[in-house]
Amino acid sequence: MAPRKAALCLAAAFVALGCAAALRHPTAADAQAVAARYPGTTAVDLERGRTLYVRRCAGCHTVPLPSVHTPAEWPEVLGEMAGRSRLTAQERADIERFLVALSAAGTGAAAPAP
Ligand code: HEC
Repeated sequence: MAPRKAALCLAAAFVALGCAAALRHPTAADAQAVAARYPGTTAVDLERGRTLYVRRCAGCHTVPLPSVHTPAEWPEVLGEMAGRSRLTAQERADIERFLVALSAAGTGAAAPAP
């Protein structure tokens, strides 16, 4: 790989990591908050959704914070993006639950947004 291209890749990796680090991890309280909508949800389920979100949705753009959409809007946004990421139905459901939970909490950032 040409040095210039390698440097660009490295820069891209730092950007992706930076965004992932700013996205906070879900808690038991988040799981409880969406239990009415998604019965039986645990913090582990939400963490799986977070991992998938960072892994599958950061290919074309940095991952937006969950707070950029309301819980009601996220399923529709995912309807458009799931095809782009070629998500399975299970992956889509996990990511949706994570985004709805953190959006409902009114946040998603571990620290104040830059
Ligand atoms: C193949 C490339 C690609 C992948 C993968 C992808 N996106 Fe996107 N996304 C785009 C493009 C291009 C836009 C610019 C606006 C548009 O075309 O809708 C966008 C815009 C967005 C927006 C802003 C627009 C809005 O409706 O708020 C959100 C949020 C979003 N993507 C979420 C996601 C999520 C969640 C995933 C993972 C399931 C994902 N994206 C995966 C290409 C992609």
